[in-house]
Formats: sequence, structure tokens, C-alpha cells
Amino acid sequence: MAESISVLISEEDVAKRIEEMGRQISEEYEGKQIHMICVLKGGVFFMCELAKRVSVPVSLDFMSVSSYGDGTASSGVVRIAKDLDESLEGKDVLVVEDIIDSGRTLYYLLDILAKRRPASMKLCTLLDKPDRRVRDVKVDYVGFEIPDEFVVGYGLDYAQKYRNLPYIGIVSGVE
Ligand code: IMP
Ligand code: MG
Repeated sequence: MAESISVLISEEDVAKRIEEMGRQISEEYEGKQIHMICVLKGGVFFMCELAKRVSVPVSLDFMSVSSYGDGTASSGVVRIAKDLDESLEGKDVLVVEDIIDSGRTLYYLLDILAKRRPASMKLCTLLDKPDRRVRDVKVDYVGFEIPDEFVVGYGLDYAQKYRNLPYIGIVSGVE
């Protein structure tokens, strides 16, 4: 069967929701500077859009962890492939993710980052699949809760494809 994509969340709905999240985050961080940490590569599209809609000062840093191969199931193995450039000490950190699935990646990552003594640390994700959670992680801002389907677009990939889709789609016809 050939791979095909059906729209789960339209480009317009994603944009509207990110705008709301930006407004909420701006209010809650008033008077502060947000140090946004993007978890590459999936989080990058969301972080750019979110950062543009936040009215308080923002600084950005990037890290890359891998827990997945090219398939659709979590291996549970997490490795830091690229660490942050800057220290987190004293900063108000907002970790920005594309999706929280089993929670394994974030469980591991938040533990490491907390040891770097940020003033505060919150977690923001565009998508959440609560039914799939294996590890308990506290998510402060969620764009959309979605059912247990493998999704692509807006940074999310299947075998490194489809990250550039401007909407969230469900991919079918994959192994
Ligand atoms: P977790 O450790 O299981 O929470 O997985 C987190 C990572 O798995 C995400 O940051 C994504 O990179 C990837 N992932 C989980 N679910 C999906 C999906 O439906 N589509 C694409 N990537 C996903
Ligand atoms: Mg990710």
C-alpha cells in the first residue's frame, strides 16, 4: 500500500492554537525572559511559530536527543546527540517539543536539565498523546491532545519525511 496522508489538524487551526498559546505564555511570563529550548528536529517548526507570538523577551537554544530509529515505535533508548550551547543557570526555561508520546524522551531530558539549576523550567508541546504515556511527565502547555495515531507534519516526520507539511496529518500505508 502506498503512503498517504489525511489531515488531522488544519494549518489554520494549528496557527490559531499557537497564537493562543503565545498569548497565555506571554501573560504568565510577564516581566521575565523566556529561555526556549527546542528539541530538534521535530520541535523547530513549532518553536519558531510560538516564539514569534510571545511578547516577552525570548532567547533560544537547541538540543538533539534521539529515541527513535526510522520506524514508528519508541525504542526507549535516549541519547544526547547535540547538547545546548548555553548554561541554564538562573534562567526561566521553557522546553518546546513537537509531541509527547511515551514520555520517555522528556522524562530523561527534564531530569538532566533540572540538574543545571534553571530558575524555573516548564514544558510546552504542540501535541500530546496521553494514551501512550509510559513515563509520567508534567506538561505545562499542550497545543492539542490527539488520539493514538502516528502523525506527521509541522516538524514531525516519518522516516525523515513530511516535516515540512504545514498541517498535522495522519500517515497510513506504512509498515
Ligand atoms: P516519546 O519519548 O515516546 O515521548 O517520544 C517522543 C518523540 O518521538 C517525539 O519527540 C517525536 O520525535 C517522536 N514521535 C512520537 N510520536 C510520533 C508521531 O506520531 N509522529 C512522529 N514522531 C513521533
Ligand atoms: Mg521530538
